[in-house]
Amino acid sequence: MDSSEKKRNAAEASLKFIEPGTVLGIGTGSTVNALIEMLPDVRERIDKVVSSSKASTELLQQQGFEVSTLNEAGDLDLYIDGADEVTKRLHLIKGGGGALTREKVLAGAARRFVCIVDESKFVGILGSFPLPIEVLPMAQAFVVRKLIKLRAQPIWREGFVTDNGNHILDVHGLTISNPLEMEARLNQIPGILTVGIFAQRPADILLIADDTGVRELRA
Ligand code: A5P
Repeated sequence: MDSSEKKRNAAEASLKFIEPGTVLGIGTGSTVNALIEMLPDVRERIDKVVSSSKASTELLQQQGFEVSTLNEAGDLDLYIDGADEVTKRLHLIKGGGGALTREKVLAGAARRFVCIVDESKFVGILGSFPLPIEVLPMAQAFVVRKLIKLRAQPIWREGFVTDNGNHILDVHGLTISNPLEMEARLNQIPGILTVGIFAQRPADILLIADDTGVRELRA
């Protein structure tokens, strides 16, 4: 089974969490794209849908959904999103697609966060995947100097601008053995808008697809 099939299986397994009247948040990435294609099947159960990126908004609209802003929708019943790395504690690295800031806002606004991945994302310790960080343009050089002092290797994502008009640093060489502490520490650097560690608000339910099916892990 190839990885896109596993992503589809993880996406399909998340549909059962969409209950009648759900105010639904939708993440970003190829796994979520597979989910968006399936959403018309459960349309009658969705009260409102909020999106974490321009890319997902466009796909939702193509499927005939009217996309609400978070301000209009209020709190979300459910947020479904992929991830770049996940641990058994349901801590995540996100932001490979650059949508981490809006994703973190939607995860924070959701009563329940279901994360959908294929088994390749499951790791013992976060950090092999370079950690995405969204940075305010005027603080770029300052943030790089701060990260180098932490013995990390920050690399600008070439030619990439986020939906919020900022740039992304992909930070290599971090072994994130304490994700809660690392998230808090990096959050304190002025000019960093969002750190791609999701530990303070981890997933509540992890759906991991492999060759044999979809495994469910809960916090
Ligand atoms: C988007 O910014 C990311 O957080 C995605 O959730 C992550 O990159 C997962 O992407 P795939 O579903 O394409 O693997």
